[in-house]
Amino acid sequence: MKLDGKIGFLGGGRMAEALIKGILQAGLVENSKVVAIDPDQKRRDFLQKTFSVSTGKSHAQLSECAIIILAVKPQIMGRLLEECASWLTSKHLVISIAAGIPLSFIESRLQHGCRIIRVMPNTPALVLEGASALSPGKSATAEDVETAGQIFSAIGKSIVLPETYLDGVTGLSGSGPAYVFHFIDALIEGGVKVGLSRQDAELLVLQTILGSVKLAMETGMHPAVLKAMVTSPGGTTIAGLHELEKAGFKAGIMTAVEAATKRSEELGKLVG
Ligand SMILES: NC(=O)c1ccc[n+]([C@@H]2O[C@H](COP(=O)([O-])OP(=O)(O)OC[C@H]3O[C@@H](n4cnc5c(N)ncnc54)[C@H](OP(=O)(O)O)[C@@H]3O)[C@@H](O)[C@H]2O)c1
Repeated sequence: MKLDGKIGFLGGGRMAEALIKGILQAGLVENSKVVAIDPDQKRRDFLQKTFSVSTGKSHAQLSECAIIILAVKPQIMGRLLEECASWLTSKHLVISIAAGIPLSFIESRLQHGCRIIRVMPNTPALVLEGASALSPGKSATAEDVETAGQIFSAIGKSIVLPETYLDGVTGLSGSGPAYVFHFIDALIEGGVKVGLSRQDAELLVLQTILGSVKLAMETGMHPAVLKAMVTSPGGTTIAGLHELEKAGFKAGIMTAVEAATKRSEELGKLVG
């Protein structure tokens, strides 16, 4: 289903690019109905050339858009909201993807009754395989949540959660790609340790990860069951798994998610 009206981006960086690519590819809007505002001429030229969308420098150019996506770095969000407060009203659906910026921060800086949704996406959105959690603000309607869900489903998968869970989401799927890349790097070095070339190890590891994720998703089987299927009694895999557990692998990952969540809470308090 197509989105009603125009969609505007405040900030035309990497995440905006991923979103523009996703919504156009999914056919949610036509190119002529997308506007991206960015101070950088090169960025504007790139977006215009790549996606045939409109671009500009002035924020107020977005006043005619039905949906406004705030896609600037968190540190300039305060200034940006101040600049937009005069024309951003409850007729716009405002979607913020700025990490760690609470809904209350945005709501308190915009006009009363503004419809806002906060979203925490992650970097695989850049290849349209992101994982995003959406939290509606006080005045956002069920229809707004549905619209935002359509947009973020165009760049991967999305779920709706109360904002209180967003620090946990940040620690889990926000930071998650880094944990996965750390694991991939370690697995490749394991291959190198047992004598494989780095190139061969990388190919085998990346395909192993991709295939395992696909197997879990396509069968819908629990990872513990899939693990048991590879782990024959007295075999090689159980010997490897035993070493991982001696090194505190599972507890280490759980603690990492917990630590990242706490850090997100701390950073949110500094902003909010
Ligand atoms: N990347 C991710 O995976 C990820 C994941 C979750 C959340 N996020 C959030 O997504 C947001 C965008 O991240 P990103 O990676 O896309 O950052 P980015 O590539 O730096 O994009 C931000 C863009 O906004 C532009 N900009 C700066 N000031 C502006 C203004 N006043 N008005 C309009 N545009 C302005 C920047 O231009 P200049 O470079 O010229 O300043 C830049 O092109 C951030 O808040 C981040 O926390 C990102």
